[in-house]
Amino acid sequence: MTERTLVLVKPDGVARGLVGEVITRLERKGLRLVAAELRTLTREVAETHYAEHSERPFFADLVEFITGGPLVALVVEGPRAIEAFRALAGATDPVKAAPGTIRGDFALEVQNNIVHGSDSPESAAREVKLFFPDLG
Ligand code: TYD
Ligand code: MG
Repeated sequence: MTERTLVLVKPDGVARGLVGEVITRLERKGLRLVAAELRTLTREVAETHYAEHSERPFFADLVEFITGGPLVALVVEGPRAIEAFRALAGATDPVKAAPGTIRGDFALEVQNNIVHGSDSPESAAREVKLFFPDLG
């Protein structure tokens, strides 16, 4: 059963030149790129994307951060792609993320944790549609 997930190389990852590293890792794993675009998010898209966190104390900072520079939005496909990419990304807190994961290898701060990956089939469907409404 092939599955699609939304991956973001967040503005910190783009600024640090880690786009190629992230794409290399997911391709090496066997995941396939379906869509890719460099873009800067509007506040509206950022707030919709992170709506589940709208009541959390870090929400305002998170929206500032994610709209603060260009990011790379990817749609990635493969068997159990959602879980597969979350495993490549590692834990949300990069200090707790295992070495060998993207966050574990490249980050130290929770907010600046390099990548996003959808966390369920429902959020993947919602996020892919939000970022790439024309994708078939
Ligand atoms: P979350 O959905 O919990 O993590 P994940 O990205 O692993 O699915 O949180 C979304 C993003 O919000 C997270 O990647 C970084 C940021 N964040 C903070 O800045 N502070 C926090 O305390 C948490 C939990 C998340
Ligand atoms: Mg999440």
